Amino acid sequence: MKHLLKMLDLSTQEITEILDLADQLKYELKHNIPHPLLKGKTLGMIFQKASTRTRVSFETGMYQLGGYPLFLSSNDLQIGRGEPVQDTARVLSRYLSGIMIRTFEQSEVEALAQHGSIPIINGLTDFCHPCQVLADLMTIREFKGSFDGLKMCFIGDGNNMANSLIVGCLKVGMAVSVACPDDYQPPKQILDFANQYSCFELTNSPAEAAKNADVLITDVWASMGQEGEAEKRKKAFAGYQINDDIMALAKSDAMVLHCLPAHREEEITEKVFEEHAKEIFEEAENRLHAQKAVMVKLMS
Ligand code: CP
Ligand code: NVA
Repeated sequence: MKHLLKMLDLSTQEITEILDLADQLKYELKHNIPHPLLKGKTLGMIFQKASTRTRVSFETGMYQLGGYPLFLSSNDLQIGRGEPVQDTARVLSRYLSGIMIRTFEQSEVEALAQHGSIPIINGLTDFCHPCQVLADLMTIREFKGSFDGLKMCFIGDGNNMANSLIVGCLKVGMAVSVACPDDYQPPKQILDFANQYSCFELTNSPAEAAKNADVLITDVWASMGQEGEAEKRKKAFAGYQINDDIMALAKSDAMVLHCLPAHREEEITEKVFEEHAKEIFEEAENRLHAQKAVMVKLMS
């Protein structure tokens, strides 16, 4: 594993190794056992979109590993003024040990990896959010003990979160049911992958998808960069909500995850959100541990 660009690139074994190391790093942190595995290393973090969790967890994680994180806002980099990504990649490769990038186009992240000579970590694109889904898988395994026999249900937009969840959950052996409006399905590349699995189901009925689910997950109706479509999307996604009616169809011990930020009373009700705050905020914490594991695997 040279980069973390998308879940499609990871083998089941690589996912398991990251999750095992993440569990170990979490244990060590809780027991004040230092782990300076990236002493002397630097991580550049390029943000072309806003972030709370990704920025703070990568920055803190790098510090805990003994390395140095640099926050690089694209407003201040020449890349924001049009310097080509292939030049940025070649320059930054000469200073840094790794790059985390949050941007719009997946092709930009792939180009950094192609033209640079250091590990590239995708901190969210319009296409996918692998760091989040590694933390989600870590959280599912933590609460449920294993992935065996579990069904994950995603309700909402066929967006970056849906894409990475579909691939990640199928790769670790879970059944996956996705409910999206017909006009907001995941892209062909993801559906082509998923349709190889008989335990994958795509529907436009949230009730259908939620049946007997062990894990229910949703995400905002309008992602970063889609603010102009928010009103149109509110209409298209009406009914694509995790609420008490949906929870009644799932298993009685079902857990709920949300990558955050959440829009209460849109994709999830306040009530369900607060009833499942324990899992949701453990999931947010696990960003730290999962990403530290990724950095150690790629950069040590
Ligand atoms: N879930 C997530 O990636 O959060 P941020 O946008 O705050 O980084
Ligand atoms: N789908 C959301 C995820 C935020 C973490 C977005 O791209 O804005």
